[in-house]
Amino acid sequence: MQTITGTDIHEAARLLRKDEIVAIPTETVYGLAGNALHEKAVLKIYGAKNRPRFNPLIIHVADTAMIERYAYTDAVSSQLADAFMPGPFTLLLPKKDIVPDLVTAGSDKVAIRVPHHPLTSALLKALDFPLAAPSANPFGYVSPTSALHVLQGLEGKIPYILDGGPSQVGVESSIAEVLPGKIILHRAGGISAEMIGAVCGLPVEYGTIHENQPETPGQLKSHYATHLPLYKGDVPELLHTYQGKRIAVISFTTNYALQDGSVCFVLSPDGSLEKAARELFATMRKIDQMDIDLVLAEDFPDTGIGRAINDRLNRAQVLFK
Ligand code: TXA
Ligand code: MG
Repeated sequence: MQTITGTDIHEAARLLRKDEIVAIPTETVYGLAGNALHEKAVLKIYGAKNRPRFNPLIIHVADTAMIERYAYTDAVSSQLADAFMPGPFTLLLPKKDIVPDLVTAGSDKVAIRVPHHPLTSALLKALDFPLAAPSANPFGYVSPTSALHVLQGLEGKIPYILDGGPSQVGVESSIAEVLPGKIILHRAGGISAEMIGAVCGLPVEYGTIHENQPETPGQLKSHYATHLPLYKGDVPELLHTYQGKRIAVISFTTNYALQDGSVCFVLSPDGSLEKAARELFATMRKIDQMDIDLVLAEDFPDTGIGRAINDRLNRAQVLFK
């Protein structure tokens, strides 16, 4: 199959109506989209990504008014939706029967978001069905933040990539669930626990979605054997430990002096966590192509979107190894 990259939402809509799958831009990362109500399309998503079926998909709708078509809402969830949607925010809600079990991997809850990107908003408005869309990367690899990243991972497996430029947030959406008297933040992202707490006045606890965790550890090793090892922590100390190796460093603001053959990637010299988040995945992909021995990453400030940066780098420690 030939993979075409373009900006034609009519072509994207035409393919999606035929139960084909199409990569779409969002402000967080690119998604691999298909008709969420048709199992045939959803199966293609799992297939192209090589994603295990036990890992459920987020469904994307045009606006917050559409949420209640697919899920049962409550007062606090609606309050959060009004505050953070469209945006890098996903709500986990009790699902309605119209959502296929294949989308939720058998769970009675569905994850829903309203992406904030002009092309994808126009596309969703043109369709009369929601789009199931995981990040548009082969299972287990770094999420794509540009059309080129999508092409590198899925060329020949999908017919069309809707090119909406680089993703402006750069890390996947926050996933939140309202429970009696508290909020669970299942995945850190562009909307922080502080922001969620400020809107609804409830305590926010961190949960953990174990995405990308294979059923058996052995799978992981064979899957990522070609990737570089990544270690996160005190960089000067780690540099000392790995003296003599060719190293790529991922830092927030500091340009570390390194030996020849090593290189430092400063994600935001000005100290903007938003900018660092935007640069993170493209930098990880660049490093993965380099002729070096290992990657060292700093601990980022654990506030706001910095929490999401730390979370992704912590997981990369496992994935890159
Ligand atoms: O920013 C994003 O959320 C991007 C863009 C494309 O929208 N999507 C994304 O999808 O990151 P994905 O599939 O890579 O990550 C979705 C996460 C997975 O960890 C999945 O397990 C969890 O959301 N999830 C989805 N539906 C769920 C459900 N019904 N119950 C629990 N977890 C769910
Ligand atoms: Mg993903």
